[in-house]
Amino acid sequence: MTQPAASTADTVTVRVPAKVNVQLSVGGVRPDGFHGLANVFLAVGLYDSVSATRADAPLLTVSGPDAALVPQDRTNLAARAAALLAARHGLAADVHLHIAKDIPVAGGMAGGSADAAAALLACDRLWGLDSPREELLELCAELGSDVPFSFAGGAALGEGRGELLTPLEVGGTFHWVFAVADGGLSTPAVYRECDRLREATGTGSSAADVPEPAASQELLAALRTGDAAALAAALRNDLQPAALSLRPSLAETLETGLAAGALAALVSGSGPTCAFLVADPDSATRIAHALTASGTCRGARATAGPAPGASLV
Ligand code: C5P
Repeated sequence: MTQPAASTADTVTVRVPAKVNVQLSVGGVRPDGFHGLANVFLAVGLYDSVSATRADAPLLTVSGPDAALVPQDRTNLAARAAALLAARHGLAADVHLHIAKDIPVAGGMAGGSADAAAALLACDRLWGLDSPREELLELCAELGSDVPFSFAGGAALGEGRGELLTPLEVGGTFHWVFAVADGGLSTPAVYRECDRLREATGTGSSAADVPEPAASQELLAALRTGDAAALAAALRNDLQPAALSLRPSLAETLETGLAAGALAALVSGSGPTCAFLVADPDSATRIAHALTASGTCRGARATAGPAPGASLV
């Protein structure tokens, strides 16, 4: 086997965006424990950066205001991404990964998945592998359901457990405010609560009980035409009742953003970050201030999407 030519750079840095799910339709539990999804992802302009530097042994460090909330050992999805890529190529994962964290931690914005996608691309280039995109996307899917989208960015429909991506056309820029909550929510716990609520209301939670989820044509058309009002009307998150059940105070955050003039409000993914679709950058600034002043969240961030996926900087 010919050895790949190692990159001459000592450090490779990759920037990677957060996501919001503009449609998250959750089907029943599959035999493998995952839920079938129709998951319309939009990447938004909040970014983590991951730097990969040659080292004598694996090392992971994190900076940023919430660094203390991020696991800094081998369980971190970025470290697992480096280990997976190294194992696939018979290399040692001797790399120092540094995550500069700006995406809310355990917030329903795929921050951990973003770091994994970024680590994969950074290590691939540092080690001179230059793997084809399709090969990296397959590794992303092994790491987690949201990791392929974090790698790809833009907008996409995720089917299966969310990893089978179809890129979507977006005909404009959508403006958003994200209200960051105190503390995170565990994604498995939110899916379990979704199942519990379905059982409690007599719907059932298995794949036989819940209709096969499908992308909304109205929502896809709204993305295609860049129509914020139409997108606002079509936003949907089946995990929202479960997130609200586990964190009832989020209802107040959602109401505060709507009262301040947001076009629509929803929980981002499994939460607890709340997402507000707004008309323009000025209203984004105003609504972010109103949310912060209300004390119903830890802070609010104004941004826009779609944003590009994992990119070398
Ligand atoms: O794929 P990932 O490891 O990110 O998923 C985290 C957890 O979220 C899974 O272990 C599962 O509990 C839940 N999940 C799910 N159905 C999906 C995606 C995630 O039940 N489609």
